[in-house]
Parts: sequence; C-alpha cells; structure tokens
Amino acid sequence: MKRMVVIGTGSALPERVLSNEDLAKMVDTSDEWITSRTGIKTRHISGKGEETSKLAAAASRKALEMAGLAPADLDMIIVGTMTSEMSMPACACLVQKELGAVNSFAFDLNAACSGFIYSLDLAEKYIRADADLKILVIGAETLSTRLNWQDRNTCVLFGDGAGACVVTGNDENRGMLASKLFSDGSLYKLLYMDSAPSMNRELKRDGNDGSYIKMAGKDVFKHAVRCMDMAICDVLEQARVSADQVKLIIPHQANIRILKSLVDRLKFPLENFYINVNKYGNTSAASIPIALDEANRKGLLQADDLLLLCAFGGGFTWGAILIRW
Ligand code: ACO
Repeated sequence: MKRMVVIGTGSALPERVLSNEDLAKMVDTSDEWITSRTGIKTRHISGKGEETSKLAAAASRKALEMAGLAPADLDMIIVGTMTSEMSMPACACLVQKELGAVNSFAFDLNAACSGFIYSLDLAEKYIRADADLKILVIGAETLSTRLNWQDRNTCVLFGDGAGACVVTGNDENRGMLASKLFSDGSLYKLLYMDSAPSMNRELKRDGNDGSYIKMAGKDVFKHAVRCMDMAICDVLEQARVSADQVKLIIPHQANIRILKSLVDRLKFPLENFYINVNKYGNTSAASIPIALDEANRKGLLQADDLLLLCAFGGGFTWGAILIRW
C-alpha cells in the first residue's frame, strides 16, 4: 500500500519579536509570571507584508525547494487556519496566487490549533485515492490580529507564523501509519473567538464585542492534557507501537506546563518532545509544522524514525498522527 510521506518542509516567521519585557510595558504582567506559567519568552508579531497568506507562501516556497518541486507541480493546497486576512477568498487561494501554483485547487480548513493535523489527515485520504498527488499542507496564523491587547489573560500567550509540508505517496514501508481526530463542540465556550458582529439586525448576537480570543484558561489546560493523552494512546494502539519506540514527539506548542503534565501522564521522557514554545508562543495551527521544519532541518529525523504529532485546540478539536519518517 502506498502511504503518505513528507518530502519537504518549510517555515516562516514575522520579523518583529515581542519579548515578555515588551509586554510588561503594555499590560500588568511580568517576565517572571509569563515564563513560570507558560514557558514563553518571546513571540513573533506580523507587520505589513506579513499577512497570513504571505507567511504561508514564504513557508511553502522553502518546502517546495526541499521537495525539489515547482509550484505548478502541486495538485492541491490546504491551509489550516482561523486567521486568514480575508473571509473570502480562502487563504489557500491567496497562497496559490502568490506561488503561481496554477494546477492546484485550494481551500482552508478551520480546526483551530488542530488545523494542521486535520489538514494532514485529509491530505492522506486523497493520497490513498491517488498516490501520485503532490499536496501542500500548511498551518498559518496571525493570532496577533485577533487578540485583545488589553487582556493580559490571553495576549501574552500567542504569536504569529506559518509552517508547510509537501506530501505525496510512496510505496516504501514509510509514511503515515495511524491517525485519530476528535471534536467536542459542546465545550466550545471554554475557548472561542467571535466573528465580526453581524450586519443582519435579526442575526446580531448580544454580547458580541468583536473577534477576540476568549478563554477559560484552567479548563482549557485540563482538557488539553486529557485529550492529547487520549489521542496519543489511540494512535499507538492502532499502529501496535509502544511509547519507547517513538523517536520524536512534536506536540502543539501552547504551554510548557501542559506539555510537562502530558509527559507525566504518558511516562514519555521530556527529551523526546520537540519544544520551541519559548521562542514563538502559541502559533495555533502553525505550531506543529514550524516545529517539524525546525526538527527536520536540524537533522533530528532519520529515515524510518517514528514521529508522533499531537494537537488540541478550540472547538474543542484534538488528535494525533503517527508517521514513519
Ligand atoms: N500576568 C500576570 N498575571 C496574570 C496574567 C498575566 N499575563 N494573566 C492572568 N494573570 C493573573 C490572573 O488574573 C489571576 O489573578 P487573580 O488571582 O488576582 O485573579 C492570577 O494571575 C492567576 O490566574 P490563573 O488563571 O489561576 O493562572 P493559571 O495558573 O491557571 O495560568 C494560564 C493561566 C497560563 C492561562 C493557564 O491556565 C493555561 O496555560 N491555560 C491553558 C491555556 C492555553 O494554553 N490556551 C491556548 C489555546 S488552547 C491550546 O492551544 C492548547
């Protein structure tokens, strides 16, 4: 059976870096509070010319270069995002235009912070149907555009960026071995971002004060640990793989304390987790592909290594994917 393999990775971050000290001048917070509660030290914040689609395209060019492909070789583009600069067209169509990927069709997928693994899982289903397809899978976000910069509970947590992968089919015994996705819409109020207020008076909702992230932090924390644990155990069982066989775990980078709690539950060594939340904060759907690109370029992944990806985000949405690299 042909499986989906990753043949190129890339990432892009905005130029401007915002430190905890910078934030302490904007809201009542401190480097000590942010570092001890989250592990975050700095995050990148977009400026002009660094809109979501532009970051996505920059990451994609690097992934295409590594894959040895031209934009016209692509058949399909999926962007996992909830912060495109436009509601219409899809961010993926803007990326297609930027790249000149004239032979692809393109669309967005919104699964909040799980957007990249949902997109990768979907790409795998297409590749199962046609192993020759070349698919660009992107996670890209500019959450800085949807934060209330007066709300210290949320504005210290997030950052902007994009990561991309080119995937195709391969008949070696490598590629995606197992995946499992979950959602629970009944808990959406614990983490959500309203849309812009409706222009239709009939449909105007009371209490909509704009498209800011709102979050019940402690509850989100508990669900994130429980759900990622559940998803990881599920894919390991599906693939009949034990935890000690996994070479590298790339989790969604939300918060170092969430990851440490996950480590305690799973009894995986922390050294097997790739962690960069200290540099970028929570970049939502972009966090896994950025980390994957970093790990790949550092040579942390060798052929046949087992790689585990796991995510949790608004919706709630969560899941895990196991890949033989
Ligand atoms: N600086 C200083 N004080 C702050 C800040 C801040 N930036 N933010 C909140 N506080 C205050 C609160 O107001 C509260 O003060 P009070 O006791 O006077 O009311 C105090 O700090 C303690 O607040 P807690 O909510 O108890 O802090 P907690 O230890 O739970 O940490 C945090 C908060 C970091 C948000 C934590 O709950 C968390 O990590 N939750 C997960 C949230 C997350 O990662 N969301 C991302 C989206 S989901 C995902 O990607 C997985």
